[in-house]
Amino acid sequence: MGFYYENGELVADGVKVRDIVEEVGTPVYIYSKKHFVEQFKRFSGAFKREHLVCFAVKANSNLAVINTFAKLGAGADIVSKGELFRALKAGIEPKKIVFSGVAKTEGEIEYALSNGIFMFNVESKDELYTINSVAKRVEKRVEKRAPISFRINPDVDPKTHPYISTGLKKNKFGVPYNEALELYLEAEKLDGVEIVGVQFHIGSQLLDTTPIYDASLRIAELIRELEKRGVSVSVVDVGGGVGIVYNEEEDKEPSLDEYARQVESAFEGFDVKLVFEPGRFLVGNGGILVSRVVYHKTNVNKKFMIVDAGMNDLLRPSLYNAYHKIEPVVKKGREKVVCDIVGPICETGDFFARDYEIEDVENGECIAVFSAGAYGFTMASNYNSRPKPAEVLVEDGSFRVVRKRETLDDLIRGETL
Ligand code: LLP
Repeated sequence: MGFYYENGELVADGVKVRDIVEEVGTPVYIYSKKHFVEQFKRFSGAFKREHLVCFAVKANSNLAVINTFAKLGAGADIVSKGELFRALKAGIEPKKIVFSGVAKTEGEIEYALSNGIFMFNVESKDELYTINSVAKRVEKRVEKRAPISFRINPDVDPKTHPYISTGLKKNKFGVPYNEALELYLEAEKLDGVEIVGVQFHIGSQLLDTTPIYDASLRIAELIRELEKRGVSVSVVDVGGGVGIVYNEEEDKEPSLDEYARQVESAFEGFDVKLVFEPGRFLVGNGGILVSRVVYHKTNVNKKFMIVDAGMNDLLRPSLYNAYHKIEPVVKKGREKVVCDIVGPICETGDFFARDYEIEDVENGECIAVFSAGAYGFTMASNYNSRPKPAEVLVEDGSFRVVRKRETLDDLIRGETL
């Protein structure tokens, strides 16, 4: 399943990566549909209770990828009008879409309301009032209140990279735990909204899910308090955050079974539907970025392998100092070198790996950057006026381009002299 070597050649579910590159060129993202499907089944299959898996579209927004999950019955977690547009185009049922994010605008709220989404995860009092007034304004058209959950900030340390921690007091996300009760009571009085649940998401790439369990216990306590005051919720949205293995030598995949038991036990006895918003877990290891070596150079003692993909194509190493395994597309038992693998962007931060040991791949040959299926293409930009790479989906032993490589004309679309 996914990506593996056969006689030294990197293969994606039966298709040689070299063959894809020959036809599509580089840089190119290659995805394994099989991996996506199996991860979804593993994730969903871990739970005994009724639940809904809403794929976090920000991890990989390609229509073919979202559609893969739509066909498996998934919903979507979206954070913008654009992501909602994509989710709908890809066939996700509106009734399965949850809308997260700290800055939903009136236009976005109206668009989501008129499409009849499942719920808004409200992140502030200001937002509550905006949703209420937009709902009242468009009520006649949609004939219903806006379904809401509050995103609660449980102040639990997820023990992950600070840039992807979200559930600490100092983070901008959610409403403070101590103010939640009052907000629910306030929301009850508004006639444009209907309280359906409670949501939390404490961070991403958690290799130990115990912080999610700790947060769940706090949320369960809040629900008890709400019930005492006559406010009932029917949905608990646990967010995403389950991590994946980037570095086989250091990372250990969290136990899905343990995660499921933790969450289910925290909410045992509550008559609620569980919602999950996994992104990375479903797609991260189902994608690679393939790039061609352009040049080698040595500055004094430092060796560089310069490739044709850059931080604009895959930002994670530059932004988070994230580790991504890198291997030659064709292994030939070449001598190994220790080098920095860098891109063409005019930034010192433009690297995929530093002091990295790899077979000394010749100029013109390709390398693969692994674990690039999540937050890879979605974080790509046109910096240095570089057209975004193509995306390819491997499915049933063949491949197809699911997003064309951008052209020079794409780069200037909408601009005038
Ligand atoms: N739900 C909410 C409300 C979120 O903010 C996120 C991710 C998810 C779900 C999905 O989390 P996941 O299951 O993928 O961990 N660009 C960063 C990751 C940012 C995550 C932002 N929120 C990276 O490349 O590591």
